[in-house]
Amino acid sequence: MHLPFLLAAAGLAASQQTVVGIIPVVGLKTGVDPVTKQPPPRLNLNDLRNSGPAWDLYIQGLASFQRVPEYDERSFFRVGGIHGRPYIPYNGVAPVPGAPVDQGYCIHDEIIFATWHRPYVVLFEQLLSEHIHTIAAQYTGPEAVLYTQAADSWRQPYWDWAIDRALPDVVTSLNLTINTPNGTVTIPNPLLQYRFQTFPLNDTLFPLDCDFGIAKYPTSVRCPDPWTNKSNEDMASSYVGAVDLAAQVYNVYTRINTFECMASTAYDGTSFEDQHNEIHVALGCIHPPGHMANLVYSGYDPVFMLHHAAIDRHVALWQAIHYNNSMFNTTYTSTVGAYATAAGTNITNDSPLKPFYADAKGTFHTSESVKDVRDLGYTYPELLGQNNMTKEELRRRVISVVNRLYSNSTTAGVQKRTEGGREGKEYFVNIKVDKGEVKDLPAILNILVGERLAGRFVLPQIPSQGVVYTEISLGHALEAAKLASLDTKTVIPFLEREMRWELKQVRIPFHLCCVDFRLTRQYNGTLIPLSAIPSPEIQVLDQHVILPNTTDELPVYGKATFWPSITERVEARSA
Ligand SMILES: *[C@@H]1O[C@H](CO)[C@@H](O)[C@H](O)[C@H]1NC(C)=O
Ligand SMILES: *[C@@H]1O[C@H](CO)[C@@H](O)[C@H](O)[C@H]1NC(C)=O
Ligand SMILES: *[C@@H]1O[C@H](CO)[C@@H](O)[C@H](O)[C@H]1NC(C)=O
Ligand SMILES: *[C@@H]1O[C@H](CO)[C@@H](O)[C@H](O)[C@H]1NC(C)=O
Ligand SMILES: *[C@@H]1O[C@H](CO)[C@@H](O)[C@H](O)[C@H]1NC(C)=O
Ligand SMILES: *[C@@H]1O[C@H](CO)[C@@H](O)[C@H](O)[C@H]1NC(C)=O
Ligand SMILES: *[C@@H]1O[C@H](CO)[C@@H](O)[C@H](O)[C@H]1NC(C)=O
Ligand SMILES: *[C@@H]1O[C@H](CO)[C@@H](O)[C@H](O)[C@H]1NC(C)=O
Ligand SMILES: *[C@@H]1O[C@H](CO)[C@@H](O)[C@H](O)[C@H]1NC(C)=O
Ligand SMILES: *[C@@H]1O[C@H](CO)[C@@H](O)[C@H](O)[C@H]1NC(C)=O
Ligand SMILES: *[C@@H]1O[C@H](CO)[C@@H](O)[C@H](O)[C@H]1NC(C)=O
Repeated sequence: MHLPFLLAAAGLAASQQTVVGIIPVVGLKTGVDPVTKQPPPRLNLNDLRNSGPAWDLYIQGLASFQRVPEYDERSFFRVGGIHGRPYIPYNGVAPVPGAPVDQGYCIHDEIIFATWHRPYVVLFEQLLSEHIHTIAAQYTGPEAVLYTQAADSWRQPYWDWAIDRALPDVVTSLNLTINTPNGTVTIPNPLLQYRFQTFPLNDTLFPLDCDFGIAKYPTSVRCPDPWTNKSNEDMASSYVGAVDLAAQVYNVYTRINTFECMASTAYDGTSFEDQHNEIHVALGCIHPPGHMANLVYSGYDPVFMLHHAAIDRHVALWQAIHYNNSMFNTTYTSTVGAYATAAGTNITNDSPLKPFYADAKGTFHTSESVKDVRDLGYTYPELLGQNNMTKEELRRRVISVVNRLYSNSTTAGVQKRTEGGREGKEYFVNIKVDKGEVKDLPAILNILVGERLAGRFVLPQIPSQGVVYTEISLGHALEAAKLASLDTKTVIPFLEREMRWELKQVRIPFHLCCVDFRLTRQYNGTLIPLSAIPSPEIQVLDQHVILPNTTDELPVYGKATFWPSITERVEARSA
C-alpha cells in the first residue's frame, strides 16, 4: 500500500518541493467508440497534422506541457528524465541494493524493452491529454463541440520513419501556425526542441564532463554542430533516409516468430530494438551526439515519443500477426539492471515495469498487464475493428497492411511483393557482439560488400554490458553487384572475395571531432582494430524463400545454410 508522499525534488530546484501522489498509468478513457467499444487510434503524424482541431490541440497541449515547472512530476521535464538523467526517484520508486548507480529506469537490450516503453508512452500521453482538454474547453461557439470531441479522441501520434525516410517538416520547422481559442496564431514549434527552464542544468545531476558534454545545450539538439551548438536537422534527416528501415522492419515481421527475438537485441536475429537504435543514432548523430543519440538524455527531445509510438505500433502489429506468441513466457536474468532493478534480477512477464504503477494503490504494471494496447486506452489504425474479428481475420488484415507498406524493397532479386508464386534465395549476415568487450561505446559495426555499405549494427552506450544480436540482409548489396545469378555457386565466391566488416568507435575526443566536422561536416568514427576484441561472431547464411500468392500472407522461409568459408576468408584477410 502506497500513500502520497513528499518528494524532495532532489535538488532540481533547491527551495521548491512538491507534494505528489502516485501517477498511475491507466490510459485515456475518452473517445471510446460506443458501438465497437474500441478506444481511438494513435494516428500517423502526417494524418494528425491534416486533422484540423486535433492537430491544433496537440501543438498547443505540447507547448503547455513543456511549460509545467520542472520540479513537478507532471512536467515534460520529469517525464523525459525517467529514461535517463537525472538519476532520481519518479513516483517515489527508489533504487534497490545492487542497482546500477549510473542508469535511469529505461530498459534496453532485454525482452522488456518492448513492454517497458509501452506504459512510458502512455504516461506521456495521459499527462499531455490533460493540457489538451484544458485548451479544448476554451474554444467557444460552433468550435466548442468540435474541439472537445477532438480532445476526447486525441492520442499520441507516431512517426513512421520507415516510410517517411526523413524528419517531417512539422518536427523541424521553427514555428507552426494553428487555430487557437484566440484565432490563428504562429507559435514556436514545440516538436522542434525542449528548452530547459532552469539553465545551466544542475551540474551534480547533469555533469558537463560526462555524456560528451551534452548538458551544455540550453535546448534539446539534433546533430549539433560543435561550432554553433545548433541542431543540423537536414543532416539528421539524411541519416534517417540513408538506411532502408522499411526492409528492416519487414524482416522482423516475416522472419521473427518469438516475442523475445522480436522485442530485443538480446536474442538471435533482427529486432525492432535494432531499428529503434538506428533512429536514435541517426537523429542525434555522433559528432558529438545530440540528445536522441544519448539514451541518458534522449527523453528530452520531443521527437522521442513520436519515435517510441512508432516502435510500440510495430510491436502491437507484430503481436496481432503472431497472436499465439503475443507475450513472452521465458525467464531471463538482467545483466545490468536499471535504476530501481538490481543487476542479476530474474525477469518474467510478471516482473514490475518500474516506475509505472497500474493503479493508485501501488501495483506495478507488468509485461502481462500491458500486453494488449486496448487495455491502455488506445489502438492503432490497422487494429480498428479488432473487437469484431477473429484473431485469424485480424492477422490477415494486418499482414495485408504490412505487405503494402513495408515489402517494397527488393532482396536478392526477389521482389518480396505479393505477386504470386515466385521464389528465390536470400542472403543474410548474422551478427553477435559482446558489448562488454568494446571498450568505448557507442560503436557501429559496418558490413561492407566491396565499397558498398550492406548494413550496419548500432551499439548504443547503454547498457554497457551484454551480448547483442542482429541480422543484416545482403539483398541491396547483391542487387547492386549485378551478379549473373543469385545461386550459391556465384554468390558465395563473390562474398568470400568482397565482403568485410569493421567496427568503428564513435566516442571521440572533442577537439578531434570538431576539426573533422569542420572539414567534412561529418564524422565517420575511429576504426577499432578487430583483433583487439574476440567478438564479433559473424556468419553468412542463405535461405530459400517462397512468396505468397495472396496479399494477406507472408513469405515462407526454408532452412538456413551457413557459409563459414566466407567468415574464415574475411578474417584471414584482415588478420
Ligand atoms: C543540485 O543537485 C544536488 C543533488 O541532488 C543538490 O544537492 C543541489 O542542491 C542541487 N543544486 C541546486 C543549485 O539546486
Ligand atoms: C517565428 O515566430 C516568431 C514569433 O513567435 C517570429 O519572431 C519569428 O520571426 C518566426 N520565425 C519564422 C521563421 O517564421
Ligand atoms: C487567449 O487570450 C487571452 C487574453 O489575451 C489569454 O489570457 C489566453 O491565455 C489566450 N488563450 C490561449 C489558448 O492562447
Ligand atoms: C558551444 O559549447 C561550448 C562548450 O560549452 C562552448 O565553449 C562554446 O562557446 C559554445 N559555442 C557557441 C557558439 O555557443
Ligand atoms: C495458433 O494456435 C492455434 C491452436 O494451436 C492454431 O490452430 C493456429 O493455426 C495458430 N495460429 C498461427 C497463426 O500460428
Ligand atoms: C510458452 O510459449 C511457447 C510458444 O510461444 C509455448 O509453446 C509454450 O507452451 C509456452 N509455455 C508456457 C509455460 O506457457
Ligand atoms: C535466477 O534464476 C536462476 C536460475 O533459475 C537461479 O539459479 C538464481 O538463484 C535466480 N536468481 C535470483 C536473484 O533469484
Ligand atoms: C461487426 O459489427 C458490425 C456492427 O457494428 C456488424 O454489422 C458486422 O456484421 C460485424 N462484423 C463481423 C465480422 O462480425
Ligand atoms: C510500394 O510499391 C507499390 C507498387 O510499386 C506502390 O504503389 C506503393 O506506393 C509503394 N509503397 C510504398 C510505401 O512505397
Ligand atoms: C566520411 O564518409 C563519407 C562518406 O563515405 C566521405 O565522403 C567522407 O570523406 C568521410 N570523411 C572522413 C573524414 O573520412
Ligand atoms: C501459389 O500457387 C501455386 C500455383 O497454384 C502453388 O504451386 C504454390 O504452392 C502457391 N504458393 C503458396 C506459398 O501457397
